[in-house]
Amino acid sequence: RDFTIAIDGPAASGKSSTARALALELGFGYIDSGSIYRCATLLALRHNITDIGTGATDLIELINKSSVDIKFQPSTTRSSPNLITGRLSVPDVRILLNDEDVSEEIRKPGVNRLVAKVASDGEVRTAVLGIQRALAKAAETRSTDVVDKEGVVSVPGGVVMDGRDIGTTIFPNAELKIYLDASAMARAIRRWDEMNSSLKQARAKAPVAAADSAPVANERAPAEYPSVEDIARELEERDYADINRQHSPLRIAKDAVVIDNTTMTFEQQVYSIADLARD
Ligand code: CDP
Repeated sequence: RDFTIAIDGPAASGKSSTARALALELGFGYIDSGSIYRCATLLALRHNITDIGTGATDLIELINKSSVDIKFQPSTTRSSPNLITGRLSVPDVRILLNDEDVSEEIRKPGVNRLVAKVASDGEVRTAVLGIQRALAKAAETRSTDVVDKEGVVSVPGGVVMDGRDIGTTIFPNAELKIYLDASAMARAIRRWDEMNSSLKQARAKAPVAAADSAPVANERAPAEYPSVEDIARELEERDYADINRQHSPLRIAKDAVVIDNTTMTFEQQVYSIADLARD
């Protein structure tokens, strides 16, 4: 029987990296439902749609006309931790909006600021729902028969989906529901670290000419990259909006396992969820 794992929780609680490492570990498909809301937000920004949260019909039309694709290639072989560091790898995911790779653009501060408002619109949620279910169906891996000591055993296929309302609204019958949480400060620091390491990577890739004209020592992060305090405030505002909206607000599903990962290592967290899935 195929297996669905729903991972919900507040902003930057580690849902996406956990879900990806877990999908690789179990040989499942993966859907990042937040990225669909982020794509809808990017559409609103690019088309200067301002009447958001009020059933904005222009935006609904745009979403319905657009294609979103989530490229995640789950490996059929299980992930194994790096022998030296013991760290689990997190497979990359690319998000395509109308065939354009928007993976970086949908994580920028402009989208962060607006996404919870876009996601509070009931009509947006209905439009996203169709995309979400179709993507989940396509991503789901199928059960396979493998031969082991006991003969032929059937290994279930499945899908991991992360978001805010997966266990409560999208897949209320999911076989395993996780609610991932961490302290507000831990979440803000992790997000800040992520932003800084992607900034460093972008700099390392920058052509030599650009590096010459902007000596690294004098270079400042672009103004759009906020401080830890700014990020903490933004996460809190987004959580507040997600918890208090009218349509499928962020809630802990009754049958969810709550994991607070403030002081857990990433590996402990992924393996503990994988163990629950295998039980
Ligand atoms: O990665 P991060 O926790 O920052 O957020 P995300 O998962 O990319 O989701 C971005 C936003 O989309 C959330 O703050 C919610 O407003 C919305 N969202 C939602 O309403 N329902 C979902 N299932 C997933 C995301």
